[in-house]
Amino acid sequence: MCGIIGYTGKNKASTVLFDSLLNLEYRGYDSAGVAVIDDNKNINTVKTVNRVQSLIQLSENGEKIQGKTGIGHTRWATHGSPDIKNAHPHLSEKFAVVHNGIIENYSLIKKELIKDGFVFKSETDTEVVPFLLEKNYKVSFLESVIKTVQKLSGSFALVILCKDEPDTLIAVKKFSPLIIGFGENENFAASDITAVSNYTQKIAYLDDGEIAVIKPDGIKVYSIEGKLVCKEIKTVSRESLSIDKNGYEHFMLKEIYEQPQAFTKTAEHYLKKGDLSFEASGLDEVIRKIEKIHIVACGSAYHAGLAAKFAFEELSGIEVNVEIASEYRYSFPFISDKTLVIAVSQSGETADTIAALKLAKEKGAYTVAVVNVKNSTISRMCDSVFYTLAGSEIAVATTKGYTTQLCVLSLFALYIARKRNRIETQQLHKFIEEIKYVPLKMTEVLYMAEDIKNLAYKTVINSSVFFIGRNTDYAISQEASLKLKEISYIHSESYAAGELKHGTISLIEEGTTVFAVCCNKDLEDKMISNIKEVRARGAFVISVAQVGDKNIGGISDKIFYLPRTNRLFSPLIHIVFFQLLSYYIALKKDCDIDKPRNLAKSVTVE
Ligand code: AGP
Repeated sequence: MCGIIGYTGKNKASTVLFDSLLNLEYRGYDSAGVAVIDDNKNINTVKTVNRVQSLIQLSENGEKIQGKTGIGHTRWATHGSPDIKNAHPHLSEKFAVVHNGIIENYSLIKKELIKDGFVFKSETDTEVVPFLLEKNYKVSFLESVIKTVQKLSGSFALVILCKDEPDTLIAVKKFSPLIIGFGENENFAASDITAVSNYTQKIAYLDDGEIAVIKPDGIKVYSIEGKLVCKEIKTVSRESLSIDKNGYEHFMLKEIYEQPQAFTKTAEHYLKKGDLSFEASGLDEVIRKIEKIHIVACGSAYHAGLAAKFAFEELSGIEVNVEIASEYRYSFPFISDKTLVIAVSQSGETADTIAALKLAKEKGAYTVAVVNVKNSTISRMCDSVFYTLAGSEIAVATTKGYTTQLCVLSLFALYIARKRNRIETQQLHKFIEEIKYVPLKMTEVLYMAEDIKNLAYKTVINSSVFFIGRNTDYAISQEASLKLKEISYIHSESYAAGELKHGTISLIEEGTTVFAVCCNKDLEDKMISNIKEVRARGAFVISVAQVGDKNIGGISDKIFYLPRTNRLFSPLIHIVFFQLLSYYIALKKDCDIDKPRNLAKSVTVE
């Protein structure tokens, strides 16, 4: 979603703004802009519908936008097309505003402002903010902000400049994430910590309804009623700020290769002295009484839930519903105090997952977060938090985020099984041993990169690709298909192999590429029939099976053998094959792999 940076301090603002916007590029965007106040109290802006780099060129390396206080923005369009008139910052006579989120009542406010004589230049919801600020500006910058914010509904993070106070930024947070950063004689506001990573490790998270008045020598935070609020300043680790490609061509490739290490770190955290450890107050009591589990999430996090469902149900004997958060929030889920709701999210800021969680909490569920970003909204909302220790994930397409989510979920399933006495100690240790081998087996798949690259470069893809599988292999197919779609823009469908003949098989024609995931020995015969069905209709079938499972090779056009593992944990290892495959197919097509079109890393709007 939109990225925000605000700077006021001793240095040339444009340099800091450009640098920070480059760090925010990973979030995905379709236009960008900055505004800086000069010594004569003029606000100068530069905007682009290209990359941040072109802002640097357009402003002649910042020469055209001199000043020490400014704001910057990368926009992911919601209201209005991605063009210059809709790019932020939006201006009125005295104010400049950058915004992330959606102002839900903007059309009503806009009508009133038009009646008052304000002339709108953009199609955005944001533009009502500078005009409302102008209308409410009687006493001071802060007073005008407080009055304005009280009129807005929806979700927003705003950072605002005012000509009359040229060394001040005001930042406001309501439902969209916003941090403030503390430097020496310089301070910051930003949508996430990566934006300020080159300048400070000291940050504070604004809470909903808080307003920060940021000057070079200090920051004061107020409640929406104008009362001073004391904020805790945290020092974030260098590691969580690291956004270096380490020599890899793309962040996605780097993150794919980081998986064995990220997995080990995550697993070790929950396996203290070889035993499972999920410490959280009241959790064990909840585990003993729960009757069902709901896993709520979006996109790949939802797929991690689908893959983990098998382990939860088979090991702990509890019914599990895996729900798309954007559907769950508008449905009537049966939730009680005997329901455990697990929210899965890499960013911890996904708007739909947050809304689903709110609903679950209102209905009395015990809530658990499986998130990657420390202190994110979801982590702060839940009764217990189990972090994935993936480190920063920059590529829009998640890889190590997904596998570490699945790592925590698998271990948590084992923990619940043990707490409910559903598993023998010997069996438990067998599973734990199996999990300890996952990083090694992931590495074995990574060694196949050259072969996977060859496959990607040689595979002829007509209009569409199909991924088929059963049980956990179907869960792998779902994530594999999403990976391919999002970064290579090739249409693909993932299908439960047995379901294909109920309609979708009509799409199979001569030369259609079908990837068959056959890593489940128990269902091998069924998959053999399904492969034969599609080949009989002309499909070109590329199968993956476990080492030693010879029967699939003979009936496929191509076969790749992946490391053997227990079916319940196979998505953790076998997905790596498809992550690399998608990566190389996108590379061959020369796609913008780390920042695919139309996508955002963290979806903070509904
Ligand atoms: C995955 O590659 C996607 N970029 C996307 O589906 C993502 O998993 C989804 O938006 C959920 O994000 P979250 O984990 O940050 O909540």
